[in-house]
Amino acid sequence: MTLKTKTALVTGAAGFIGSHLVDSLLERRVKVIGVDNLSAGKEAFLTEAMLNDRFEFHKLDLLKDDLTELLEGVDVVYHLAANPDVRSGSLDTRPHFDQNILATYLLLESCRKASLSKFVFASTSTVYGEVDVMPTPEDYGPLLPISIYGASKLACEAMVSAYSNQYQMHSVIFRFANVVGPRSTHNVLHDFIRKLRDEPKELEILGAEPGTSKSYIHVSDTVNGILMGSEKSQGLVDVYNIGSRDWTFVKDIANIVVDKMSLKGVGFHWTGGVNGGGWVGDVRKMLLSTKKLEKLGWAPELTSSEAVELATMDILSE
Ligand SMILES: NC(=O)c1ccc[n+]([C@@H]2O[C@H](COP(=O)([O-])OP(=O)(O)OC[C@H]3O[C@@H](n4cnc5c(N)ncnc54)[C@H](O)[C@@H]3O)[C@@H](O)[C@H]2O)c1
Repeated sequence: MTLKTKTALVTGAAGFIGSHLVDSLLERRVKVIGVDNLSAGKEAFLTEAMLNDRFEFHKLDLLKDDLTELLEGVDVVYHLAANPDVRSGSLDTRPHFDQNILATYLLLESCRKASLSKFVFASTSTVYGEVDVMPTPEDYGPLLPISIYGASKLACEAMVSAYSNQYQMHSVIFRFANVVGPRSTHNVLHDFIRKLRDEPKELEILGAEPGTSKSYIHVSDTVNGILMGSEKSQGLVDVYNIGSRDWTFVKDIANIVVDKMSLKGVGFHWTGGVNGGGWVGDVRKMLLSTKKLEKLGWAPELTSSEAVELATMDILSE
């Protein structure tokens, strides 16, 4: 797909999804300005991008540095910088407020001053909370997140919508399912692999058998969805889900990891778990309707299990 975008600024550019987005934008001959404070991201993820003349990287912190000047001449901002750790929010609530809500507010202020025309925001399926409609469409409501992380992202969505309406800035909000693939640094696959490397005969799993059931999407499908949706969206504020069309249970993920690690006779030890989920704030079931984005021509190439399998092999080969 050829993009209309000439110059893009990506926040969270050195992160898992951000670095893949940078690579895909560069492949499509877009000039890319990457911003990251490297709190979680790694410069190593940008090794290839750094060799490209159309890429420049700025180590900046959205909470401390003003991006207004950097935004001059930028057509689109892809805002992916965040604290994405859902689980940590119940232990310490402040980081999600600062790194998600406050950082997004400060960035939107810079965008307003720079009269930016398009803002793309990385949101999450956790804004839906526990739902009674599945696959869940974008217009489902009321949105009642059960995690501080989900709440912080919903607050960001609200601000993005208000800034769009008040300052004529077109915006596109993507609600991702669980994204997996190369350069991920923390998720259930990393947890299981680490535990099984320590103890190859028994795997401790949070929750009750068979565990939560959620949609997993490969990062390649995710980035294709972001590019397709942000290029083709027409509304002032458009919201799109990005997920695979099916889900997988935690037990299936455990079986895939055990299989890919070529382990035999592993016992699963289900433990802890809160309200049928793994931890406080963990949604039990998540499956997103992706019909809206599919109408624009996007479709996930991998199922949840295929994405998990591929991602597991990637982690094991690192
Ligand atoms: N990975 C998933 O499954 C998933 C699911 C739903 C939504 N998301 C959202 O997608 C986006 C990307 O997630 P990810 O998994 O790639 O996370 P990540 O942690 O790999 O990337 C986030 C990046 O933001 C940077 N960052 C954080 N705070 C910053 C600040 N104040 N200033 C500058 N840079 C800062 C970090 O260094 C990191 O490189 C996030 O907004 C996340 O909430 C991710």
